[in-house]
Amino acid sequence: MHGSAASLLTIFGATGDLAQRMLLPSLYSLEHEGLLPSRLRIFGTARSELDDDGFRALVAQSIERNVPVAEINPDSLDRMLARLSYQPASLDDPDALARLCTAIKALRDGDVVFHLSTAPRWYGPICSALGAHGLGGPGTRVLLEKPIGRDLASAVAINDGVARVFDEEQVFRVDHYLGKEGVQNLLALRFGNALFEPLWNARHVEQVQITVAETIGAEGRDYYDESGATRDMLQNHLLQLLCLTAMEPPSQFDPSAVRNEKLKVLRSLRPITGADVATETVAGQYTAGAIGGRAVPGYAEELGRSSRTETFIAMRARIDNWRWSGVPFYLRTGKRMPRRATEIYLQFRAVPHSIFANTGASVEANALVITLQPEERIELRLMSKTPGLDRAGLQLSQVALDLDLHERFASDRKRLAYERLYLDALEGNGTLFVRRDETEAAWQWVDAIIAGREGTGAAPRPYPAGTWGPAAAVTLAERHGHSWRE
Ligand code: BG6
Repeated sequence: MHGSAASLLTIFGATGDLAQRMLLPSLYSLEHEGLLPSRLRIFGTARSELDDDGFRALVAQSIERNVPVAEINPDSLDRMLARLSYQPASLDDPDALARLCTAIKALRDGDVVFHLSTAPRWYGPICSALGAHGLGGPGTRVLLEKPIGRDLASAVAINDGVARVFDEEQVFRVDHYLGKEGVQNLLALRFGNALFEPLWNARHVEQVQITVAETIGAEGRDYYDESGATRDMLQNHLLQLLCLTAMEPPSQFDPSAVRNEKLKVLRSLRPITGADVATETVAGQYTAGAIGGRAVPGYAEELGRSSRTETFIAMRARIDNWRWSGVPFYLRTGKRMPRRATEIYLQFRAVPHSIFANTGASVEANALVITLQPEERIELRLMSKTPGLDRAGLQLSQVALDLDLHERFASDRKRLAYERLYLDALEGNGTLFVRRDETEAAWQWVDAIIAGREGTGAAPRPYPAGTWGPAAAVTLAERHGHSWRE
């Protein structure tokens, strides 16, 4: 344990969509498994005018809607509801904030965690109010949801506002991908096995692909239209996956060691600037199409107006260090792709010489495919003899050494990422949270790409919903002799 277990969790934005879909259901699951500190109280606040009972009814409803029926136990639900209280507050009303702080102080009986799940422009004002009421000192922690800004300058401003009250060790920036079982398993695979590490470098790896493909659309959300795939997914989730894939082995699994190594990767990313943005990246926006046989509208139709926001981005990133020099890291994320897939693909170098050339057998390069979503699976693709007595001689085919973790751990419940994140935040363990310097290094790299794209004035390329993005993304990899996995 890193800090002492919190006695109070205060959620700002407690009636919002994230709270209802993820946060409260995760807290319920922790409750059900007996993992919440016994005296923990959960205090919600938002603009909605509710009393404690109204909030409890809302929470019960969001748990019923978002937790599988088989996992809802009336006793656990009652125990969780008994921990709840609520006070409405408009964040632009200093008196309401002051009343809120008074209520928090009255409930406090040990460590407090503040979870800010509001628009980020409120992070500074909320933190100053907390600070002014003596709620920023030892024994307090603050969890911040993404996005931390929309570029480096705004991220620095938000981080400065928070840092005026909380020391960096008290700040827990959420990237919910780090709470996913599969993402942590990537660390287990790399550092719990001696087998892969000798091969995990430019001598043996030909190319890496990281894909986060979603079938859902942007659903006409204004937030999405203001950010786009680059800010919404690349700056955080994809770069975190890249860091965990590419980083050096940390000396131990603790907050400084892990985050120091991730930061080094971010700082080794070769900047993509100016004219390179057009050759090394491809932005796209989906038009009407079909997914799984169902017709879906285009992005602009959903939004009700035309827009230059990208719903897809693909790129060739380079990491300038000894381990990865010369290895392309193809990154790709998009909405309305043909299937949901979060995947890390390492293709190893080809055999130096094929002894089977005279039989006409082709030898494909080995590959490791780590699938994080929709189900966890690890596949090592190896060449094997095709069974039979082929006259022409021995023939080969690629087979997979397939670790189906979903099946192997079938009796384990599929967890929400926030279960892990809450458990760690309540105990003060920041390993799976993003440090300020990481967020800012990621913004710096992404800002150059956005500036380069805006500099060309080019609109994102259209791609029909249900396809793997614009054709230019295919060409991007093909130019370097590679093709995307589909
Ligand atoms: C969020 C993005 O951070 O991640 C969403 O804002 C995206 O646009 C979501 O849909 C994807 O998360 P997951 O857990 O469904 O892969």
